[in-house]
Amino acid sequence: MARKLRLGVNIDHVATVRNARGGPHPDPIRAALAAADAGADGITAHLREDRRHILDDDIARLSAEIALPLNFEMAATEEMVAIALRHRPHAACIVPEKRTERTTEGGLDVAGQREALRPLVARLGDAGIRVSMFVNPDPAQLDASRAIGAPVVELHTGAYCDAEDPALRLRELDRIRAAARHAEEIGLECHAGHGLSYETVGVVAAIPTVVELNIGHFLVGEAIFLGLDAAIRRMRALMEEARAGGAGR
Ligand code: PXP
Repeated sequence: MARKLRLGVNIDHVATVRNARGGPHPDPIRAALAAADAGADGITAHLREDRRHILDDDIARLSAEIALPLNFEMAATEEMVAIALRHRPHAACIVPEKRTERTTEGGLDVAGQREALRPLVARLGDAGIRVSMFVNPDPAQLDASRAIGAPVVELHTGAYCDAEDPALRLRELDRIRAAARHAEEIGLECHAGHGLSYETVGVVAAIPTVVELNIGHFLVGEAIFLGLDAAIRRMRALMEEARAGGAGR
C-alpha cells in the first residue's frame, strides 16, 4: 500500500496580494488557518532575501500561531540560517534564489556546492529542523544531497508542469518517477512541488515513494474563483484519488 501523501500549502502569494497595497489584508496567517481547516498537513512559506512576499513578521506569527508543521523555504545564506535557528520550524527546504527570477526556476546545485552546503545542513539538523534540498529530478543531485546528510529531497516539478509538448511532458514525468525511485533506494524521503495544478497533480501524487507535495500559486489563484477552502479540498481529493488508483506506478 502506498504511504500517506501529505499536502503542504504554500501561502506566499497571499502575501504577494497583501503587499501590493502595503496593508495587512489579505493576511497569510489567516490563509494558513483556513488551509488547516481545509485539511492541509503543513504550511510552506518562502522568506525571500528581497522580502517580495513573505515578511519576517509572517514567519514569527506562523511559528507562534499555527499548529501545523511549518516548512520554511530558504536560500543557503547566513541570514536565513539565523532566522531558521531562531524560529526552529519543523522543516527547512533549501532553495536556490536569484533576485531577478520570477519564481524558483530550477533546483539547487547540491552536487556543485557540497562543501558549502554540508555545514549548513548539519547546523539546521542539529537544531532539530528536518532539512530538504529542492533539486531537479537528477540522480546526481539526490546522491549529493544524501552525501551531505540531508534526510529529504523535494523534486522540482516545474519542467514537467510547464512542458506543453506531450512527449516532453512525459519525458519530464519519467525523470520525476525515476528520481523518486532513486530517493527511496538511497534512503531519502521524497517530496515534490512547483507548478502543480488540478491538471498536473494526479500522476505525481500516484508515485508511491513521494510522501509530500507542496503547492501554492495555483491554489491561491483558484481561491479567487472557488474560495481557499474549496480549492484546497479539491486538490486533496484529486491527490487521494490518484494515490488510491495507482496511476503512474
Ligand atoms: N516547493 C518549493 C521548494 C518552492 O520553492 C515552491 C515555490 O515557492 C513550491 C514548492 C510551490 O510552487 P507553486 O507555488 O508553483 O505551487
